[in-house]
Amino acid sequence: MESIAIITGASSGVGREFVHQLDHHAGGPLDQLWLIARSKDALERVAAGCTTKTRILPLDLTDPSSFEALKKEISDACADEKTYVQWLINSAGFGRAGKFVEIGEASNAGMVRLNCLAVVELCSLVLPYMRSGSRIINLASMAGTLPLEGFAVYSASKSFVLNFSHALDAELAATGIHVTAVCPKWMKTGFLDHAGSKQSLKKMMFIGFENPTDVVRKTIRSAVLGRGVCVPSFDMKIAYGALAILPVGFVMAAMRFIGDWTTEHLS
Ligand SMILES: NC(=O)c1ccc[n+]([C@@H]2O[C@H](COP(=O)([O-])OP(=O)(O)OC[C@H]3O[C@@H](n4cnc5c(N)ncnc54)[C@H](OP(=O)(O)O)[C@@H]3O)[C@@H](O)[C@H]2O)c1
Repeated sequence: MESIAIITGASSGVGREFVHQLDHHAGGPLDQLWLIARSKDALERVAAGCTTKTRILPLDLTDPSSFEALKKEISDACADEKTYVQWLINSAGFGRAGKFVEIGEASNAGMVRLNCLAVVELCSLVLPYMRSGSRIINLASMAGTLPLEGFAVYSASKSFVLNFSHALDAELAATGIHVTAVCPKWMKTGFLDHAGSKQSLKKMMFIGFENPTDVVRKTIRSAVLGRGVCVPSFDMKIAYGALAILPVGFVMAAMRFIGDWTTEHLS
């Protein structure tokens, strides 16, 4: 049998770290790594550092024709029924901070296309080629656990990822395939460089940062164990539990107050 890991967002940040750790067999033996992002050059650089057989697929996952191309690649590769997809890692994503009306239609719609629609498309395409023991990891975020002013579409898109992953994992229970949604806090990756309004971002920085290497290591472990959600940091585990019982209006007001206070007093 020949196993494949498909990783989106593989050119940078969290996706690139998944490539690195899977290449070092953190998720068990693997025969092929398929790397997806738009930048061919960046994918080539990541592939050059891998010891596993690697394919690069420079695709824009907001373009519907990319899924047609990918469907053909996967069905051709798995046609012998000896090749299957062991891992699907949906890491490609972006977030724009700022007021909804100021972010603009293209970016708001783009976030939904990449963060939500592409995840659904990829799960649909890949699931027929998975088998018992295969794993899907979807990058959600702590931002998906509550409505976030100044990040309205992004937080809603990650809430979609979280709920979709949970429900899909339950639907797949009898197959031995598991879906894990991961909820990191901030990480210093390309994400922050492309997130737009520094003022809106600053108000949410008080929740703190974590390291992509730790996030990926803990997420792979959770996925291997078949857990539906991975909240990698200890403080956010507590916040995740608290958010399930606190009234949403109260949490939003507290976030606004802490964000305004820290921006004013700690910068
Ligand atoms: N960093 C954080 O603070 C943070 C926190 C929580 C959750 N997350 C989530 O973690 C995931 C990974 O983010 P990151 O931190 O690794 O950010 P990143 O360093 O900016 O990486 C984003 C990746 O997505 C790819 N990408 C962007 N647009 C694409 C498109 N249209 N089609 C295909 N690929 C595309 C980028 O490559 P190209 O530009 O070459 O296409 C890049 O490889 C995202 O889903 C993000 O929402 C991030």
